[in-house]
Amino acid sequence: MAIHSPEDRLWWKQPLHRVEIVWISIAFLWGLLMFFAMIYWHAAGDQNVSSEAYKITPERFSALTEAMAKKYKVREEGETGVPVVKPPAGSDVYMLARLWEWWPVLELKKGESYRLHLSSLDWQHGFSLQPENINLQIHPGYEMIVTVTPTRTGTYSVICNEFCGIGHHTMVGRIHVVDK
Ligand code: CUA
Repeated sequence: MAIHSPEDRLWWKQPLHRVEIVWISIAFLWGLLMFFAMIYWHAAGDQNVSSEAYKITPERFSALTEAMAKKYKVREEGETGVPVVKPPAGSDVYMLARLWEWWPVLELKKGESYRLHLSSLDWQHGFSLQPENINLQIHPGYEMIVTVTPTRTGTYSVICNEFCGIGHHTMVGRIHVVDK
């Protein structure tokens, strides 16, 4: 806010300078180009996955995840006490985000498809699958469902890439992909 009013109170009625209209046009056209690029990236990009989103309460999502973990637990991940869960191929698989972990650890088969459900029990978290670099925003109250078909065996990290407080940097999960 200016301390003094402009001398010419009708300043906005002055014609646009040529340079100004050129820059406004460039910005507008760039915005338009990027808008249509979003559609192109979705079809041709490797990082923008197709996902579905539905409403779900944290209590219900937690119950579904716990039930799956109990039914298909095969071992624990090292000394962490976190269960490694190996659900059947083609099934609905759940991974929850909470302060500050991705839970549980999943073991999936290479070449098989799964419906991966992701949701948060508390705050907003970021699901970042490394080293594939697939990124999704995970909110409480909504579940994201992604159909995944792992193509390479190995251990993948799930990093939280949305700042969620003091333990954010420790919020790391794991997905193992194994041969059939
Ligand atoms: Cu969860 Cu950062």
